[in-house]
Amino acid sequence: MKVLVLGSGGREHALVWKLRQSPRISQLYCAPGNGGIAGEADCLAVDLQSLESITSLATRLQPDLTVVVDEFTRRGWPAFGPRRAAARLESSKSFAKEFLQRHHIPTAPFAICDSIEQVRSALSHFHVPVVVKADGLAAGKGVVIAKSKDEAREVAAQMLSGKMLGAAGARVVLEECLKGDELSFLVFSDGERVAPLVGAQDHKRVGDGDTGPNTGGMGAYSTSDILDDRMRDWLVNHIARPVVAGMKAEGAEFKGVLYCGLMMTARGPMVLEFNCRFGDPETQPILMRLESDLVEALEASIEGRVSDGDFRWSRDASVCVVMSAGGYPGTYEVGKRIDGLDEADAVEGVKVFHAGTTRRDGVYYTAGGRVLGVTARAHDLETAVERAYEACGKIGFDGAHYRKDIAGRALKK
Ligand code: AMP
Ligand code: GLY
Repeated sequence: MKVLVLGSGGREHALVWKLRQSPRISQLYCAPGNGGIAGEADCLAVDLQSLESITSLATRLQPDLTVVVDEFTRRGWPAFGPRRAAARLESSKSFAKEFLQRHHIPTAPFAICDSIEQVRSALSHFHVPVVVKADGLAAGKGVVIAKSKDEAREVAAQMLSGKMLGAAGARVVLEECLKGDELSFLVFSDGERVAPLVGAQDHKRVGDGDTGPNTGGMGAYSTSDILDDRMRDWLVNHIARPVVAGMKAEGAEFKGVLYCGLMMTARGPMVLEFNCRFGDPETQPILMRLESDLVEALEASIEGRVSDGDFRWSRDASVCVVMSAGGYPGTYEVGKRIDGLDEADAVEGVKVFHAGTTRRDGVYYTAGGRVLGVTARAHDLETAVERAYEACGKIGFDGAHYRKDIAGRALKK
């Protein structure tokens, strides 16, 4: 069969790498792809911001299966991925919070405010620190943990004025600040049933020890301990299934990947956010542990026959360390020559996924903020981490930055 993957990040490289292992695939395309993906799939030009460009590509290729990773679902374009109504789980935090409340799914207490007066009066019901969130999509910049009520008012005022995030901040959500370990819990759904993936943990801050600004994700790991079978069943029964059933009951059937961002608190798991797409970089370590055919699971979701047994997983541990351009998530330069990729890929258990790279005349150059996802698998987490860092040490480009403590907290435990 002919498969088309849309996107250009590390997550898309991991999907292409995994799909290529399927005996059912005869032709694999990625649009637009990146320097590393070009070695494993035919990369084609496309403007992901333009529905017309995507439609014309799909009309030309006639793929049997299109894996829509990001743009379609984010925009809720009607013909592909979850419909706009279902994608609201991701695109509106106030919708997601009220939905969770309606369906008795655990989440932090919250208040929705459309004016600074509402913020002022709602704040009296919260302790500090308090979380202030822009309602709309804000590329990871829409969440502030305010240490005082003054700060919360200030941030909320900035968001509401439109100066900080434009229309995304026209409404804000105040939320109790939760403590615990974060867990990324992804499931495939066909609108009715769900099949859980293994759990993973992201590292969102740019610096070691969770310091500095938020990023798209600087690394992630997955082990069988991060989510044992009992907890996985609990999350399926109390979070994933009720979400899918609730969406269906509300006339907005949810098909595809549901990403639940959870906080594992002393009071139990609570939902922080939803995404209607694969996580990046979580997808890289998750797919490193997948032993069954990804095509089969994707088809099951599309064809409405998802079942709990759609995935077979290795008990090995895996970890992805993101190498980024100096300055990311702020301004950074591109076009730096990348050396040592072959040596890094040769380390046992390592696969280097490309995110922001291009290839010219056989040489790779940086082309984005997150450049590479150096991913390793091993029998235990400690060895996987060692392998990933050994591989990182072999790669060089001007200004390269990566965190030295990915999975560090899990190793200490
Ligand atoms: P969100 O986009 O809602 O997932 O928020 C981004 C990040 O902000 C999360 O991954 C958490 O690290 C943090 N965060 C969001 N909501 C809360 C909360 N209620 N309590 C503590 N941290 C939070
Ligand atoms: N790693 C977080 C995300 O994909 O949104």
